[in-house]
Amino acid sequence: MTAFTGREFPDVTTTDGRLAGSAGVAGLATGAIGIARPRIEGRAKVTGSARYAADEPVRDLAFGSVVLSTVSRGRILDIDVSAVRDMPGVLDVIDHRNAPRLNPAAGHFFGPDGGLRLLQDDAIPYAGRPVALVVAETLEQAQAAAEALPVTYEEQPHDTDFSADHPAARPALALFDGPANIGDVEAELAASAVVVDERYRTPEEHCSAMEPHSATAWWEGEHLQAIDSNQGPFYVASVLATLFSLSFEQVRIRTEHVGGGFGSKGLCGPQLILAVMATMRSRRPVRVTLTRDQVFLTTALRPETDQSIRIGADADGRLRAIHHEAAFELSPLAEYIEGCTELTKTLYAASAIRTRLTAVPLDILPPYSMRGPGAAPGSFALESAMDELAERLGIDPLELRLRNEPTVGPISGLPFSSRNLVACLREGARRFGWATRDHRPRMRREGRLLVGTGLAATSFSAGAFPSSASITAEPDGTFTVAIGATDLGTGARTALTAIAADALAVGTEGIRLRISDSDLGPAWSAGGSRGTTSWAWAITEAAARLRDQPRDPARPVTVTVDTTQLLNDLPARERHSYSAVFAEVTVDPATGEVRVRRLLGMFAVGRVVNPLMARSQVIGGMIGGLSMALHEEGIRDPVSGRHINADFAGYHIAAHADVPDIEADFVPDYEPGIPLGIKGAGEIGNVGTAAAIANAVWHATGFRRRTLPIRLDRVLEEYPLK
Ligand code: MOS
Repeated sequence: MTAFTGREFPDVTTTDGRLAGSAGVAGLATGAIGIARPRIEGRAKVTGSARYAADEPVRDLAFGSVVLSTVSRGRILDIDVSAVRDMPGVLDVIDHRNAPRLNPAAGHFFGPDGGLRLLQDDAIPYAGRPVALVVAETLEQAQAAAEALPVTYEEQPHDTDFSADHPAARPALALFDGPANIGDVEAELAASAVVVDERYRTPEEHCSAMEPHSATAWWEGEHLQAIDSNQGPFYVASVLATLFSLSFEQVRIRTEHVGGGFGSKGLCGPQLILAVMATMRSRRPVRVTLTRDQVFLTTALRPETDQSIRIGADADGRLRAIHHEAAFELSPLAEYIEGCTELTKTLYAASAIRTRLTAVPLDILPPYSMRGPGAAPGSFALESAMDELAERLGIDPLELRLRNEPTVGPISGLPFSSRNLVACLREGARRFGWATRDHRPRMRREGRLLVGTGLAATSFSAGAFPSSASITAEPDGTFTVAIGATDLGTGARTALTAIAADALAVGTEGIRLRISDSDLGPAWSAGGSRGTTSWAWAITEAAARLRDQPRDPARPVTVTVDTTQLLNDLPARERHSYSAVFAEVTVDPATGEVRVRRLLGMFAVGRVVNPLMARSQVIGGMIGGLSMALHEEGIRDPVSGRHINADFAGYHIAAHADVPDIEADFVPDYEPGIPLGIKGAGEIGNVGTAAAIANAVWHATGFRRRTLPIRLDRVLEEYPLK
């Protein structure tokens, strides 16, 4: 096998960092797009002057500390406020008896969310449910009193034990990734030369953003102000207004810098709801910052999944049938969809395809989107099963994928807007050195280590959501661009500045960008891999309209647009980003230790706005996928139902020492119909990596690992070699 340095990609990226293919398609002259630029706020971040939500100085600030339920189901019998009321600095204790009333209509994308209705009654729906907020002059005083607050419960039997055949299992909400059924799956399976019929499991996982969730809320007259760590200030402000029965104009939320979200900051978070309750009662500014264990226990988790897959193929590898049934857990408090079967409707052609999603309500924190929701666990199952099929057919796993490339959407029948999965697979295989792979397992050894390689193909849905933007042509020739976007640390500020400069045909120094403020108007959140696409659309449209406006050298001219109608006019297509991920692992048969030695991802994500940041983002996603494959696992005590590893000592995330030579690059790609040809690169890096690693573990050892994470003990469990 040729040596892989991971640094030798002259053919796609030109020397100035511009993507040759996509820049050519776009044909734009100014050239701010496609150039590798460092983050605008990079210096502020590394010197510590960038302010995150908990850093903002606020006068007369009080601090709230959250008290969480220790039982998984039951009722609050008593909260003995008298025990802490006279402790130093204590200002207020808020619980279900005195908390402001919340509007039950408030919710999220999937409907009303009872998870938001904190401190409204004595019911305990899950362990970790906030039961009180202690407010004090200092953070330490608030924490001391919160720890001392006696809460007594009537404990009731709980159920946190997930399985696909749980008696409460029911069809998932079909808002998206609804059931699909084309062809005759049973007949096609019966006619198949080879059938794979296996079950795959993924555990509860936690978003684990570096910055803990923090909110500071205060009143200015009748206006509620908040600085909050979230993924979309406009969206969060609208939910908050509903929750507290305020008019939207009364609520303003800002979010200057955010230290990651990964889905957990997509909702109106408990820190914000509790801080607002506290400031409503005290009329003083109140800050609530979650501790690390509270982040684990109260903010969105990825649900456990249990997936069954049957795939049948002819001897030449043509797929006859794919049957994918996925179950996931949720809470009766809130609907959610872990869309595990979405990829199954996109990736491969087959005569018959059937999918079904099942939801299992349990006494747990309501799950929500995390890092490639649905697609990450779904692709682990589907792409593991495809690898098993290749093994049983005796076909190169790469070739198996190439042979089943669809010409139209396998379920929808719609044309693909653009589909460059094959380019990802072929280019990735070339760079990785796939051609020299011996496809038989357990053939490579280095000393006592077993060595194997694996791959996975992936997709992630692409598109845009309505957003508004305003651009002001200033008399001095510069432009002020205002959009309710958020920068989670992904580089949105830098990307949007380049997009605006390009659209207005000025240098980036001529752009003043304002983001992170709900007062800037409706805008999609940094989520669903649709932030940049949605915001870029609004900015380019505003710039186009501004160009048609007469300029007044004496005063500013402002244009505001909303893309709702433009999006409605977009023709229906299968729109997805694609990637191919290649992994090489070593397995130590003595200890069961799996180490990833190298990872390569080739991505088709539409036009790349900033290759430096996009590469960084997909590499970050691949590290998340590596972490999913080998480390991340929320563990519950079956007796108490409590999550017992709610910290970074017990919940393992890939550290530097776990992260090998990772390389990522982009094939030329362009999304027709969407301004700039952008697709979105936010989450696809996460998708596919776990399957590629699991497939490499099989190749190294000859044993399939169908339960994530692939822990040492799981490797040793069945290991025959001593
Ligand atoms: Mo994402 S998991 O849509 O923030």
